[in-house]
Amino acid sequence: MRILITGANGQLGCDLQRALESHELILMDLPTFDLIKSSCEEQVASAQPDVVIHAAAYTDVDGAEHQPDLAMAVNAQGTEWVAQGAARAKARLIYISTDYVFDGLKRTPYLESDLLNPLNVYGKSKLEGERRVLDLSPDSLVVRTSWLYGAHGKNFVKTMIRLAMEQPDLRVVADQRGCPTNAVDLAQALAQMLRVDIRGIVHAAGTGDCTWYELASAIVSAMGRQTPVHPITTAEAGRRAARPSYSVLANCVLKQSGIILPYWRDSLIQFVKSAAASTAE
Ligand SMILES: NC(=O)c1ccc[n+]([C@@H]2O[C@H](COP(=O)([O-])OP(=O)(O)OC[C@H]3O[C@@H](n4cnc5c(N)ncnc54)[C@H](OP(=O)(O)O)[C@@H]3O)[C@@H](O)[C@H]2O)c1
Repeated sequence: MRILITGANGQLGCDLQRALESHELILMDLPTFDLIKSSCEEQVASAQPDVVIHAAAYTDVDGAEHQPDLAMAVNAQGTEWVAQGAARAKARLIYISTDYVFDGLKRTPYLESDLLNPLNVYGKSKLEGERRVLDLSPDSLVVRTSWLYGAHGKNFVKTMIRLAMEQPDLRVVADQRGCPTNAVDLAQALAQMLRVDIRGIVHAAGTGDCTWYELASAIVSAMGRQTPVHPITTAEAGRRAARPSYSVLANCVLKQSGIILPYWRDSLIQFVKSAAASTAE
């Protein structure tokens, strides 16, 4: 298959390159591929892919509150151009979206069909991207994931590994609950999704759930360190963007296709051990 990946140098993009290495890959990212330029449509169309995995996005959740126009331009208008390019090439489009399309008022895992009500600019821009994809090409696939971490780029897990080595203790938010997702696991699940005919919306997050505080505690424990981790509230953390207090995703549709992501703690332990091993090298 000829697969075009947008955001190919990002956290998920890098792990997708590895998971899909048996395919013919077309890799697109800044600076030569820019979602704020309408030319990105032609770039996608003229590449003549069979599948487009659109992982590129404006992903700075707090930054989006300062730059709402840019976030909307990249995540909504840019996504529409990618969808138009994919449609012209008659390619299947897979759009990566987020748990932040939900407001977090539920206390049981979110289903694909649940009410959408993003609390922050980033979530609103990604939801607008979902809508434009499905309006333009109802046969497309929207894959919502959450709390992504991987070996490439910045993420919570890598930050905690560093801070646990640098600081005497850690203070971490304990009133937001979600599903940590290893980018390798998501990339492998996406490779499986290519082999089945699923359309519409699917949730694809690590199995099980925890708070950021529980995640940080699990990281410190996997590192074999004694660094104390103290729970704090979202208000004490003082982040600019509002975040859902509960954004656990139920991977219902994916399970029906026999695609199961690993339990978050198992993946995390493996990730932390290999991160520690590569630091020691
Ligand atoms: N990270 C999470 O926790 C999370 C959770 C749920 C969903 N998602 C979604 O999952 C997908 C992958 O996330 P990720 O963590 O891999 O993100 P990432 O590491 O930030 O990668 C995104 C990629 O998109 C590129 N990009 C940014 N602006 C662009 C533009 N104007 N034109 C073209 N490319 C642009 C980035 O380039 P630069 O690095 O040069 O800016 C980067 O290579 C995204 O769609 C995101 O919304 C992420």
